[in-house]
Amino acid sequence: MPTPSKKRKGTAPLAAIVLAAGKGTRMKTTRAKVLHPVCGRPMVYFPVKRALEAGARPVVIVVGHQGDEVEASLRAALPGAPLQFARQERQLGTAHAVLAARPSLRGYRGPVMILSGDTPLLTTHTLASVVEARTAPGSLAFATMDLENPEGYGRVVHAPGKGPALIVEEKDATPEERQIREVNAGLYVADAEFLWSTLSRVDARNAQREFYLTDLVALAADGPGAVAVRVSPVEAQGVNDLEDLSLATRAMTRRIAASLMKSGVTIEDPERFDADEGVQVAPDTVLEPGVRLRGATRVGPGCVVGQGSILIDTQVGAGVQILPYSHLEKARVGDGCRVGPFARLRPESVIATGAHVGNFVELKKTTLGKGSKANHLTYLGDATIGAGVNIGCGTVTCNYDGEKKHPTRIGDGVFVGSDSILVAPISIGKGAYVAAGSTLTESVPAGALALGRARQVTKKGWARAKAAAKPAGKGR
Ligand code: UD1
Ligand code: CA
Repeated sequence: MPTPSKKRKGTAPLAAIVLAAGKGTRMKTTRAKVLHPVCGRPMVYFPVKRALEAGARPVVIVVGHQGDEVEASLRAALPGAPLQFARQERQLGTAHAVLAARPSLRGYRGPVMILSGDTPLLTTHTLASVVEARTAPGSLAFATMDLENPEGYGRVVHAPGKGPALIVEEKDATPEERQIREVNAGLYVADAEFLWSTLSRVDARNAQREFYLTDLVALAADGPGAVAVRVSPVEAQGVNDLEDLSLATRAMTRRIAASLMKSGVTIEDPERFDADEGVQVAPDTVLEPGVRLRGATRVGPGCVVGQGSILIDTQVGAGVQILPYSHLEKARVGDGCRVGPFARLRPESVIATGAHVGNFVELKKTTLGKGSKANHLTYLGDATIGAGVNIGCGTVTCNYDGEKKHPTRIGDGVFVGSDSILVAPISIGKGAYVAAGSTLTESVPAGALALGRARQVTKKGWARAKAAAKPAGKGR
């Protein structure tokens, strides 16, 4: 991942709470907001990951809406990470959500970082800068940003000559306060003791009848004071609706593209490139416009991935050419292969070194051996194909009998003529030939020629005889 992962030095304690219980009504979707994906991960994965990178132990995630799914997705994405999950059954506000995490941090006395599950773009570097700003024990540091359009955010009100005095939510703000462009980014670091004692004083006397975490600032101003740390709006913008989601995804993709380009990968048009977090591409590979790399995809060095191609959980070796508009899922492609244009490799397809899979060829659960070729209009399913095999245009492995799938085996050096129908289960021995247009239902021994088609009948002069038989005046 491109984010600078500056590990916190030493043993300074840090815990984190990530707020992720809300439904996200502004999304207008059935799925809980924090589960919406950004670059292949549920949005909440990013603040959790960044908090871990910043050295937080544990990271407590406050879940509510679709909480089981949020928990399962994070446990799967971050196996073994020191995560804890706290339930907030009713979403009574951000302060209430933080209090739901309190039992998970019983006995902990150090600083606590609080993040929102809906700010996926924050970097570890920025988290560290807020941690460092919280100097005096007991004090509170929080991140702010200047926005051209501050709509929807809490505004930061400063006391003249002093620090920040309070955060006022948009719905509670006066028209003058709404003019303020410095807004609360929703990232806080506070001492545990200060946090718990102060949160108990937060009430819900506001426009939304919610317990606002933002009240901490005014409460701190009465005592030890708060520090506002300006951070980049590019990083700290929250996702509240589907347009925000698309912007966050684009920004995250740009980061992934930038880091790939820095490492020697050519991306012809980074604005027309999509990648999931965690994909790997080796140097000297060229990615044409409209390429989409998803999941655990790895592409080796010296490859070209053609325009509009989609690779999902796929491994590609070195020097491979994937021609435009190919779709590969859970496939393995060996060194020096050529795939596409318009090829489809479905799950468990393996093509060995130097093999070719051409246009309108579909492979499913099929191994194509070294240097073998299936260049045109073909379906190969549940097939094991040896090396140096030629599969002619229009070949079909009939692997499904309506109930079960059956295997096809094709030995090394076999030549399958065009338009052959191989009814599985069937095997074609090494070096055998299958005549074009054959329908084979029986296995073929090595070295044989199999013909499985009706013999051709040619009737000489037939057309002229037909014409002569027609009454005069009528056309052909
Ligand atoms: C919040 C801040 C606002 C800030 C903005 C930054 C408050 C009151 N307001 O507003 O000042 O500018 O973030 O992005 O904090 N959540 C829960 N339980 C709840 C309520 C919320 O877990 O009871 C979670 C949500 O799932 C979400 C996060 O807290 O991940 C923030 O909640 P959201 O409703 O998006 O707050 P904003 O209105 O954006
Ligand atoms: Ca928000």
